[in-house]
Formats: sequence, C-alpha cells, structure tokens
Amino acid sequence: MIARYALILVILALPFTAAADLEKGKAIFMERCITCHGTEGKGDGPIAAGLPADMKPRDLQTGTMKVAVDDAKFKELILKGGTAFGLNALMPPQAGLSDADIASLIEFVHSLRKK
Ligand code: HEC
Repeated sequence: MIARYALILVILALPFTAAADLEKGKAIFMERCITCHGTEGKGDGPIAAGLPADMKPRDLQTGTMKVAVDDAKFKELILKGGTAFGLNALMPPQAGLSDADIASLIEFVHSLRKK
C-alpha cells in the first residue's frame, strides 16, 4: 500500500523535476549570450555593433532558426557551437552546463520571441 502511494508521488513529481527554470535560463543567458545577442535577444549586444552585416548574431526575437529548429537541435548547437553546423564561428560552444541548465536556457530564448 505504501509502495503504491510512493509510486503515485513519484509520477506526480516527474513533470516538475524535468521542468525548465525560466529564471535560471535568464541568468545563464545574461552571463553567456548578451555580449552578442543583447539583453533582449535582438542580436544587438556590444560585440554585434562592430561586426559586418553577414556576421551579425541572430535576432532571437524572430524565432527564425537555421539549425535550432527544435529543442534537440538547439541543445546540440549550444553544446557544439556554430562551426559544427556551418554557421558563423562566432556562435560559440558552451561548456559546463547541465541538461537542466540547457533546457532552462532554451526555454528562456523561446520566451524572448515576439509574435
Ligand atoms: C561571440 C558572439 C556570440 C555569443 C556569445 C553567442 N552567440 Fe549565438 N550567434 C552568434 C552569431 C554570429 C550567430 C549567427 C550564426 C549564423 O547565422 O551563421 C548566432 C546564432 C545563434 C542562434 C541561431 C541559430 C540558428 O539555428 O539559426 C541561436 C539560437 C543562438 N545564437 C543562441 C545563442 C545562445 C543561447 C547563446 C548563449 C549561450 C549565444 N547564442 C551566444 C554569436 C554569438
């Protein structure tokens, strides 16, 4: 009987343990992405200003992606960086992020989208 309740509790808790944390994602974005993509993801960070037009960081508010068309691809892009997919080498690979960190970061980037 107790085992059955424990199982139900685990099942109820599952969606929450895997859930992306938007605040965490924001913190990671502010730490690792805004120099190029800007605080609101418009691709207008301080480094972007000095780049030629064909090297500009993507405007993440449009949600138009060449590689990161779904969350699995987005995760791969974050881990491997732009060069792995024929994108601009300026888009750097990220080290030291857990799966949960990456899920949170992706969720935050989705939240930037304006439509
Ligand atoms: C040093 C500058 C720089 C930093 C830092 C940077 N990016 Fe980028 N990013 C770029 C550039 C440049 C592109 C455009 C690549 C292209 O289209 O060839 C890009 C493209 C992208 C794209 C579009 C990919 C696609 O499929 O079209 C996403 C999403 C993205 N970056 C997310 C991030 C996230 C999230 C971070 C922080 C973890 C980050 N970037 C950090 C420069 C940067």
